[in-house]
Amino acid sequence: MNNKELVAHEALKYVKNNSIIGLGTGSTANLFIQALAQKIKKESLNIKVVASSTVSQVQALEYNLDYISLDQIEVVDLYVDGADEVTNNLDVLKGRGYDLLREKLLAQISKQFLVIGDKSKMVGKIGEKFPIPIEISPIAWKITQNLIQKIAKNCVLRPNTAGDAFAITSTGNFVLDCTFEYTNLKDLSEEIAKTPGVIEYGIFQYIANIALIADDNQVTKITLDV
Ligand code: 5RP
Repeated sequence: MNNKELVAHEALKYVKNNSIIGLGTGSTANLFIQALAQKIKKESLNIKVVASSTVSQVQALEYNLDYISLDQIEVVDLYVDGADEVTNNLDVLKGRGYDLLREKLLAQISKQFLVIGDKSKMVGKIGEKFPIPIEISPIAWKITQNLIQKIAKNCVLRPNTAGDAFAITSTGNFVLDCTFEYTNLKDLSEEIAKTPGVIEYGIFQYIANIALIADDNQVTKITLDV
C-alpha cells in the first residue's frame, strides 16, 4: 500500500454506521471513496454521502453510494478530504480542484473534518508551495482581480486543464491563484474575504479537527483536540 492508500484506509476508522459523510476531491480523497464503498458493502452500513465537487459526486454514483445533495442537509458527521498544504497547527490550504465553496461549506458544517495526505503536504506556512486559490464571481472578475492584486504579489485567473478557457467551478465561478507576502494568516483571510466578488478562498483555518499524514508507511495523527 502506498502512503495515499494508507491514509485513505486509516480514515475508515472514523466512519460510523448511520451517518452522513462528506466526500472530498482529489487523488487521496478518491482512494478514500473507493475504500468507503468497499466497507459499506462488506459491513452493510447505512451511510449517506454528500459530495464536495461534481467529480466526487460522479465517484459516489459510480460506487452506488446513497448520495444526497448539499441542499438536502444541514449537518455532516464526518468530512474526509485531501489538502494541498497542512501545518502542524492544522491550518489547511485547499482548492486545486476548483470547488472551494462546496468544500468550505462541508468543512464548516461537519462535526469532524478529517484531512488526509502524505508527508509532501506538510508546510511551515500556508502558501509556501502553492498559490492561494480564490473562487470569485465572474460578473466583474477583473475588478475583483485588481482589488486582490493590491494586497497580493501575483494574482492570475486559473485556466482550464486544456488551457483554452478559464476554469469554472461547479457553481459557475472563476478561480484566481494568488501569492501573498503576509505575516498573519487570519488577517490575510479577512482581507481576502472582504473583497467584493470573492465567493470563497482556499485557506481553511480553525476548521480541521484531525490530519492523518502518511510517511514511509506510517501514519501520524495531528490534532488540536485535547
Ligand atoms: C481539491 C483539493 C484536494 O484535496 C487537494 O488538491 C489534494 O489533492 P490530492 O489528494 O490529489 O493531492 O483541495 O480542491
